[in-house]
Amino acid sequence: MRRESESGLPVEPVYGPRALAGWDPAERLGEPGAYPFTRGVHPTMYTGRPWTMRQYAGFGTAAESNARYRQLIAHGTAGLSVAFDLPTQMGHDSDAPIAHGEVGKVGVAIDSVDDMRVLLAGIPLDRVSTSMTINAPAALLLLLYQLVAEEEGVSASLLTGTIQNDILKEYIARGTYIFPPKPSLRLTADIFRYCRAEIPRWNTISVSGYHMAEAGASPVQEIAFTLADGVEYVRTAVAAGMDVDDFAPRVSFFFVARTTLLEEVAKFRAARRIWARVMREEFGARDPKSMMLRFHTQTAGVQLTAQQPEVNLVRVAVQGLAAVLGGTQSLHTNSFDEAIALPTERSARLALRTQQVLAHETDVTATVDPFAGSYAVERMTDDVEAAAVELMRRVGELGGAVAAIEQGFQKGEIERNAYRIAQETDAGERVVVGVNRFRLDEEEPYEPLRVDPGIEVGQTERLARLRAERDGTAVDSALGALEEAAEGEGNVLYPMRDALRARATVGEVCGVLREVWGEYVPPDVF
Ligand code: 3HC
Repeated sequence: MRRESESGLPVEPVYGPRALAGWDPAERLGEPGAYPFTRGVHPTMYTGRPWTMRQYAGFGTAAESNARYRQLIAHGTAGLSVAFDLPTQMGHDSDAPIAHGEVGKVGVAIDSVDDMRVLLAGIPLDRVSTSMTINAPAALLLLLYQLVAEEEGVSASLLTGTIQNDILKEYIARGTYIFPPKPSLRLTADIFRYCRAEIPRWNTISVSGYHMAEAGASPVQEIAFTLADGVEYVRTAVAAGMDVDDFAPRVSFFFVARTTLLEEVAKFRAARRIWARVMREEFGARDPKSMMLRFHTQTAGVQLTAQQPEVNLVRVAVQGLAAVLGGTQSLHTNSFDEAIALPTERSARLALRTQQVLAHETDVTATVDPFAGSYAVERMTDDVEAAAVELMRRVGELGGAVAAIEQGFQKGEIERNAYRIAQETDAGERVVVGVNRFRLDEEEPYEPLRVDPGIEVGQTERLARLRAERDGTAVDSALGALEEAAEGEGNVLYPMRDALRARATVGEVCGVLREVWGEYVPPDVF
């Protein structure tokens, strides 16, 4: 009986030579580390260096998050991944009325350079790469990171890490946007230019499909809409006068890994091949690094269940394996209790141990792209690629990613797929172990981690002290210079850095930009 994949593509019960009739390995595959990078972005992949185990973490105060980062480094994690609370992500200070109840909740509260200094205390910034999941105010958090490194005598040229800085997917799926698309894309181009000049090893963007997948996107929709966003960013930077090879090597991506391992491996391989071709043929990139789709993967949060939470350990292991077989550069494995609450130190350690088992006890790091030549996975890779290219063409017909967003296209397509998934689950056609099959009559109790609600009071007191101690005249002057730059054409990151160095807060800097650029209002669609 023929099945359909997550993307609605046919899955044959048996694949054989016919599946790859006329298929040219030289054209479709190439060598690992060579165009079109189907088999991976490096010739040696994990035989040369394993992926970065990069666990997303952050909650409460900068001091509490700093303690978790030190634990993760002690347990063997190689890269940091900072989660910020919603007020920080939306460019509000912890003492803003709109921040009430959200301070330190889904991530760490960062209001100023003082908080960033505490967050990074004792972490070797010249040796650890840090990802920051921050979008609308990404420039500010990058500059705060650079200012703390500067205080510690670490040259910006040594800093490695990533800012997510992917505002388009915020309009489509995640929602932490501030400014309208035009000024947001100007800020993106300013960041590309600033990092090229000041922080050359920093990955300036992590174009994300993860959140679209979490909102219900299929694998084909995930890579098609993500790569279409990537195309929009590249077009923006080229239109701003940059040479594609001056910034494209520092563009990176972020995808989900679902439990449907075979299609996920095909998805990652197809995405690399599409991006390589788009960069060489549409944008005339000459530097191979501009054509390499380097990506981070997080296992699928929406596939975690609150019922029988230990079963999630198995799901995460399969999803992590999918990411590794798909050639990820960096991986976050979810904690088994995350459908219930913030991970405890024990569940966070177990999530990391899952990656360590994949890296050190299996043989999947012994050879590059082991699925190469597989009748099933190569056929699936071709099928996912063809469907994703067709969907990207439809986005292009609408005028590109921004125009399609403003017409609600991506959001509508994803919501229709989410509805299909929900219907299949409710009907029991889509099995969710422990939820609609293999259930327990009575769930066993589980004691989650709780975040201290008093964090908000503490942050408010810290802000009051900061405003009392700093040179208010210097702050006002710096904010005035930022306002002028935002009204003009200059790169806003330089006056922004001066304001933050003078201890202007995240809310004050974003407040100036809100005044000049306004805030985004989404189209009403369903
Ligand atoms: N041969 C040769 N060189 C190799 C190699 C090999 N086999 N393997 C790695 N290397 C090199 C790389 O080229 C790189 O060198 P460079 O610094 O000169 O470029 C160096 O070793 C480090 O390797 P990577 O750059 O591949 O690994 P990183 O981990 O540093 O970077 C990334 C990975 C994907 C490029 C980067 O963008 C990254 O770390 N992204 C992480 C994004 C992230 O964590 N996001 C979290 C989101 S959570 C979220 O959104 C919130 C919630 O809603 C889900």
